[in-house]
Amino acid sequence: MTHKSKKKIMIVAGARPNFMKIAPLMMAFDCFKKDLEIILVHTGQHYDFQMSQVFFQDLGIPEPDIFLEVGSASHAEQTAKIMTAFEPVMVKHKPDVVVVVGDVNSTVGCALVASKLNCRVVHVEAGLRSFDRTMPEEINRMVTDCLADFLYVSEESGLQNLKKEGIPPSKIVFCGNVMIDTLIANRHVIARSAILQKLNLEPQSYAVVTLHRPSNVDSPEAMDEIYTILKSLNTKITLVYPVHPRTKVMMGNHGLLKKFEDLPKLLMVEPMGYCNFICLVKNSRFVLTDSGGIQEETTFLRIPCLTMRDNTERPSTIRIGTNQLVGRDQKSILKAVEQILKGKIKRGRIPPLWDGRAAQRIARHLTHVT
Ligand code: UD1
Repeated sequence: MTHKSKKKIMIVAGARPNFMKIAPLMMAFDCFKKDLEIILVHTGQHYDFQMSQVFFQDLGIPEPDIFLEVGSASHAEQTAKIMTAFEPVMVKHKPDVVVVVGDVNSTVGCALVASKLNCRVVHVEAGLRSFDRTMPEEINRMVTDCLADFLYVSEESGLQNLKKEGIPPSKIVFCGNVMIDTLIANRHVIARSAILQKLNLEPQSYAVVTLHRPSNVDSPEAMDEIYTILKSLNTKITLVYPVHPRTKVMMGNHGLLKKFEDLPKLLMVEPMGYCNFICLVKNSRFVLTDSGGIQEETTFLRIPCLTMRDNTERPSTIRIGTNQLVGRDQKSILKAVEQILKGKIKRGRIPPLWDGRAAQRIARHLTHVT
């Protein structure tokens, strides 16, 4: 096959949770480099070292070929900037396929541009639904799935959701979870992480907290409730909290930063790189989070996960895995924590096809169908 006949695949990443999804895809596409030319675009939605470059270093992702430098803004402005910057890149490079992953603004912005230029769009992690349209990610997921020509699904609920939405079965592929590919591929490096020594922590002596969703941190009332919850948990166990930059800004805006910092057994740290963070989770008693991906990672690692939300787009982590929804209700959180500390925990199982080979399945399918 001559160089000219290679299929041109443009793969887009923009924000932290995208990077662990594109890492195994880049590797899998590399196995098909005889047939595929890969162009990696970083939109710059996330730009701090700890929110972006550290993942490229940790996961061995090649330098992006194109960097759009869109930065932070309101949803409309950020999505518009992504689209305006991505369109000329599409026009210049004329890819055969654009691959978008997850549910961030970069996902939907680039899918829309590619679709209007009549380019094939494929969505990795399609079909997830929280059925909560107040979440920006839910809007991003629905619109991206509507536009996609191929939809790669990570868990069984995704198949049912897409079927109900009338997506033709020929467009849908149940391929497994690319985030878990990354976890499996990096397990030896994760095992060697020195993060516990660095933070002076013993395995099983602490819990991990990550909270950054608008519904939890944008209003002073919600954040004050979180403060009260963490204060009461703090009497029972040390809490390690890698704080997302937007949460830190909100803590400051709500005048609560000092109160959080003064909690005696709350260790607030900078956002972490991938291997350090997974090592921290793997050795914890439990995780309290509002993240999407961490619900999956804890299920795979069989660590109890309390999700501080009223819904999840990843129901298999509850049905099969170690996750439970606790909202922001102090009583149910304390009750769940007491059970965990007594050793009454759900071990769970690992959902189908979370086996480290999702990206390979995607690459093989894409090579054949496009
Ligand atoms: C985005 C995703 C969310 C994901 C999260 C993970 C959308 C709609 N949301 O939310 O699904 O769970 O990433 O991190 O795409 N900021 C920095 N440095 C950075 C990036 C952001 O300081 O490198 C701060 C800025 O104050 C910015 C704020 O974080 O305004 C929010 O960033 P943004 O990309 O808009 O959304 P996230 O809350 O990070």
